[in-house]
Amino acid sequence: MGKSLTFSSLLFFFFFTNFFIDSATSSCPIDLSYVETFPWNTTMCREARDPNGTQCCQTLLSLFGIGLAQHLKDTSRFQLPDLASSSSCLSNLQTKLEALSIQPSLVPQCLSATNFVANTSQCAGIITIQDWYQRVNGTTQLDSSCQGDMTGLIRCGSCVDAGKQVNSQLANFDQNNSQKCFYFTVLYAAGIANEFGPKDVRTANCILGMPLSSSASNKSGDHLSRTTQLRLIFGLLGALVGVLLALGVIILYRRWDKKERQNSVHEEYVSSFRSSVLPNAGAKWFRLSELEQATDGFSQRNLIGQGAYGVVYKGTLSDGTLVAVKQILDLESTGDEDFCNEVEIISKIRHRNLLALRGCCVTSDNQKGRD
Ligand SMILES: *[C@@H]1O[C@H](CO)[C@@H](O)[C@H](O)[C@H]1NC(C)=O
Ligand SMILES: *[C@@H]1O[C@H](CO)[C@@H](O)[C@H](O)[C@H]1NC(C)=O
Ligand SMILES: *[C@@H]1O[C@H](CO)[C@@H](O)[C@H](O)[C@H]1NC(C)=O
Ligand SMILES: *[C@@H]1O[C@H](CO)[C@@H](O)[C@H](O)[C@H]1NC(C)=O
Ligand SMILES: *[C@@H]1O[C@H](CO)[C@@H](O)[C@H](O)[C@H]1NC(C)=O
Ligand SMILES: *[C@@H]1O[C@H](CO)[C@@H](O)[C@H](O)[C@H]1NC(C)=O
Repeated sequence: MGKSLTFSSLLFFFFFTNFFIDSATSSCPIDLSYVETFPWNTTMCREARDPNGTQCCQTLLSLFGIGLAQHLKDTSRFQLPDLASSSSCLSNLQTKLEALSIQPSLVPQCLSATNFVANTSQCAGIITIQDWYQRVNGTTQLDSSCQGDMTGLIRCGSCVDAGKQVNSQLANFDQNNSQKCFYFTVLYAAGIANEFGPKDVRTANCILGMPLSSSASNKSGDHLSRTTQLRLIFGLLGALVGVLLALGVIILYRRWDKKERQNSVHEEYVSSFRSSVLPNAGAKWFRLSELEQATDGFSQRNLIGQGAYGVVYKGTLSDGTLVAVKQILDLESTGDEDFCNEVEIISKIRHRNLLALRGCCVTSDNQKGRD
């Protein structure tokens, strides 16, 4: 008698697990409980001051990105299996936001379920981490630059720089989706390259551009003030890695150290570049003299950072705008494409930790006097 009872409960057990497995195919594979525990700045999603929700939308994308990066880490897949699971995740996100007294309707306003479904036409045909390694030839600068504690301008800046570099590599496969590929790059950096993973406050803040609540900002603030140099950097710019991005801009400035003969070829290139790249970006071409004025003649006092890809100065334009001027000194002839890629990518990408592009200046050394 006892035996047969056990048997029937076993049957029931199987019946129910099967039932749940079936329905699980369309449920969200991401555990979103971090939404309520992660110390993120919810202010911009609570305020009506941001009517189009652009700031809030960026924050929600970063917030959801934490889950996607964790999903990548757990499953080796960049995106969700199907539309049903993606919709289910966004609906769970709505529930979590509601619990934080944030308008759940912001989710459909900002995020579209189709964007998170695995699809070979999204970025260079990449679906899994194996596809990624194939496209970028194994490990990349991301793997070394995005490791460890991502607090601080220099650490975070070099990770973001490596991201741009890898993104231009991916652009060889898929020129039409640099924005989408940048998101993949960000997911890789936060989910795979960084050992602490996307739920780490420092990692999420830098790599996913996640704005932190004041209690969490305090902690990273302490980190920063560890060295005077970093405190200086933060005080000066409010940051290249930034929170106060409204003011921030990057100007790329490049000095050419080439022979006259090459210059005419180069000038031709520059003029086609000038007409093709910047008009859409709302950026302009600067004269070298304007940048010299802005940075006080590229004074050491205004030097705020130095990375593998160039030197960054703080500057103030004649209209009072605070800018970061990135100088790429390039002595190689292969640099043209990289420069072009960097400008194009920066002008397309929106990420809290990348400043908006304000303009460019391309010049050769021997023009310095008259430009
Ligand atoms: C915000 O909305 C207003 C009016 O609805 C529109 O004029 C403006 O261009 C929008 N801004 C952005 C950044 O979408
Ligand atoms: C993949 O994306 C393309 C274009 O974005 C779309 O036309 C197509 O339907 C998508 N495929 C799937 C399976 O969702
Ligand atoms: C990847 O490596 C192969 C062989 O080592 C090389 O031919 C190819 O150009 C590399 N691709 C990229 C994008 O670096
Ligand atoms: C990129 O877009 C252009 C025009 O929109 C199209 O002609 C081209 O085939 C696309 N390239 C790829 C790789 O999809
Ligand atoms: C949170 O975001 C709001 C709105 O953007 C901003 O005013 C506030 O300073 C932020 N708080 C912190 C701690 O960064
Ligand atoms: C953050 O700073 C404020 C004032 O600057 C302080 O009152 C608060 O206790 C700090 N929070 C933490 C977690 O350190």
